[in-house]
Amino acid sequence: MIRCAIIGATGFTGVELIKILLRHPHAEITCLTSRQDSPPALSLLVSGLSKKSKLKLEKFQLAKVVKGSDVVFLCLPHTESAPVAVKLLKAGKVVIDLGADFRLNSAAAYVKWYGGWKHPEPALLKQAVYGLTEFYRAEVKQANLIANPGCYPTGASLGLIPLLKKKLIDPSSIVIDSKSGTSGAGRKLCQATFYGTVNENFKAYRVGKHQHTPEIEMAARVAGGASKLDFSFVPHLLPVERGILTTIHAKKHKGVTDAKLRQVFQNTYNSEAFVRVLGRDEFPDLKQVQNTNFCEIGLTAPKGSDWIVVVTAIDNLIKGASGQAVQNMNVRFGFSETEGFE
Ligand SMILES: NC(=O)c1ccc[n+]([C@@H]2O[C@H](COP(=O)([O-])OP(=O)(O)OC[C@H]3O[C@@H](n4cnc5c(N)ncnc54)[C@H](OP(=O)(O)O)[C@@H]3O)[C@@H](O)[C@H]2O)c1
Repeated sequence: MIRCAIIGATGFTGVELIKILLRHPHAEITCLTSRQDSPPALSLLVSGLSKKSKLKLEKFQLAKVVKGSDVVFLCLPHTESAPVAVKLLKAGKVVIDLGADFRLNSAAAYVKWYGGWKHPEPALLKQAVYGLTEFYRAEVKQANLIANPGCYPTGASLGLIPLLKKKLIDPSSIVIDSKSGTSGAGRKLCQATFYGTVNENFKAYRVGKHQHTPEIEMAARVAGGASKLDFSFVPHLLPVERGILTTIHAKKHKGVTDAKLRQVFQNTYNSEAFVRVLGRDEFPDLKQVQNTNFCEIGLTAPKGSDWIVVVTAIDNLIKGASGQAVQNMNVRFGFSETEGFE
C-alpha cells in the first residue's frame, strides 16, 4: 500500500482526492490536513463515508506527514505549495502539487502572469515534471516533484497536441474558447462565483490575461514539438458546478481531410484509458464527463473550409485536477493507470 497525505484536504480538489483514494486498492490515506482550529468532520465533506472511518482532519505537522506518507498531494492555493514542497522533497517524499507553483518552466513567467510573484525556489522548476500524463508518462515515472496540470490547460492541450505533433494546422492561427463550471475557482466565497451572479448567466473573464495562458503555450508547444505558438485563449464562466468544455479552432494545412484528422486523433489516443475520441458528427458534452477522469474529444475538418474544429470536455476537478493527480501517482508507483477509477 502507498501511504498518502493530502495537504489542504477541505478544498474542492482535496475532497475529490479523498473520494478517489478511498476506492484505490493500493492506496491508504494516512494524513489529511486543514489550517482550521475546528475542522469539519470528514463525513460532512465526503458523503457516504463509512461510519467506521477513523479519518480526521488535523493541522499540518511536517514530521508527522514525513513519517506517515510516501506521497504527498498538495491541494493548496497558488504560492502556498512551494514552501511546503521544498521541505517534503528534502525529506525524500514524492510530491504531487495540484496548484500552479511548479507548472511553468521560468520564474519570470510567474512574475508576469501571477501578479508579480517571485518564485521562492526557482531551481526546482527544472526538477519538476509537468504531469499531463498522456504525454509525459516516462518523465512522471522518474519524478519526485510532479506539477499536476491546470484544468483549462488539460482540456486545451489534449486537443491541441495531436494537431501540432502531426503538423495538421498553422500554429499561428489557433483560437481556444473554454467554458468552465464555477468549482474551478475553489471553495472560497467570492462575488464572481456566487449563485446570484452565476445563475442564468454566462460571461467571459480575465480575457487576455488568464494565468493559464503561458501554461497552455508551454504544454502544447513542447509536447507538440512546435517552435512557436500563437493563440487567443478566452475563458468563460458557465452557470454549472463542474466541467470544462473547450472548443479549439485552427486553420488547417492544405490537404488535411476530415479522415486524416480523425485518424491522427485515433492513433494518438487509441491505447489511452482516459481519452475517448468520439465518432463522426459526435461532440462531447459536460454530463458525459462529470465525475469521471475521462476527456472526450469531438472533431471535424468540414469540406470546403480552411478550418479545423476540435472540442474537448473534462471534469475540472477530476481529469483537470485530482483524477489526473491519482493517474500520475499510479504511473509513478507502477500501478495500472486505471486503479482507483473503476
Ligand atoms: N478547482 C479546480 O477546478 C482546480 C483544478 C486544477 C487545479 N486546481 C488548483 O488546486 C489547488 C487547490 O484548489 P481547490 O479548488 O481545491 O481550492 P480550494 O477549494 O480553495 O481549497 C484550498 C484549501 O487549501 C487550504 N488552505 C491552506 N492554506 C490556505 C490559504 N493560505 N488560503 C486559503 N486556503 C488555504 C484551505 O483549507 P483549510 O481552510 O481547511 O485550511 C482550502 O480548503 C489550487 O492551487 C488550484 O489552483 C484547482
